[in-house]
Amino acid sequence: MSAGIDAKKQRAAQAALDYIEDGTVIGVGTGSTVNFFIDALGKYRNHVRAAVSSSNATTARLRAVGVEVLDLNEVDGLGLYIDGADEATRARYLIKGGGGALTGEKIITAAAARFVCIVDDAKVVATLGKFPLPVEVIPMARELVARRLATYGGRPVWREKCITDSGNHILDVHDLTIKDPPALEHELNQITGVVTVGLFAARPADVLLIGTATGTDVV
Ligand code: A5P
Repeated sequence: MSAGIDAKKQRAAQAALDYIEDGTVIGVGTGSTVNFFIDALGKYRNHVRAAVSSSNATTARLRAVGVEVLDLNEVDGLGLYIDGADEATRARYLIKGGGGALTGEKIITAAAARFVCIVDDAKVVATLGKFPLPVEVIPMARELVARRLATYGGRPVWREKCITDSGNHILDVHDLTIKDPPALEHELNQITGVVTVGLFAARPADVLLIGTATGTDVV
């Protein structure tokens, strides 16, 4: 990965610190952009009470920088969730799950009053779908779900060797052109065996921070 992209991710991650209210518990997502946020949070850790984490990888990283990690069941909802995305539109619809943590990410999104998404500008697209759509499935239903997904014109590919934190499999659906993200998310959620669809559209990001070569755009 180029230093240029890392610098853009870092700018978006740094800008997300401004959304933290002192003394609160925040939700933290997963991925390389979020890792920059966690690094920054480590220096800012006295301002947060604790974090709720979307994945085992993020939990380890938060603890390594001295941030206490709470279970979502121990808190009464969250004011703020910070996470990255694999693709984003300016309507703040997202594809997530490239890192395999989509289920934890969707649950925390649902629990949070505000979702601030941090991306570099290469991830901003007019139409979602160039990035293969991750769909987490119950292992025994994998091929059943794959056949159903193919009827939507996509090409599901099993992400072999990937077992999610919840013990499930992931299908990456290639070749989709997602014209109506909320409608597709709703339809795919009805397929028996699907655990989580990596479309975040029914509940999009509330704020999109886009790291660019010169600064951060706020959408
Ligand atoms: C993790 O499952 C994903 O949803 C990530 O948020 C997404 O893949 C973005 O990751 P990067 O910041 O590494 O691109």
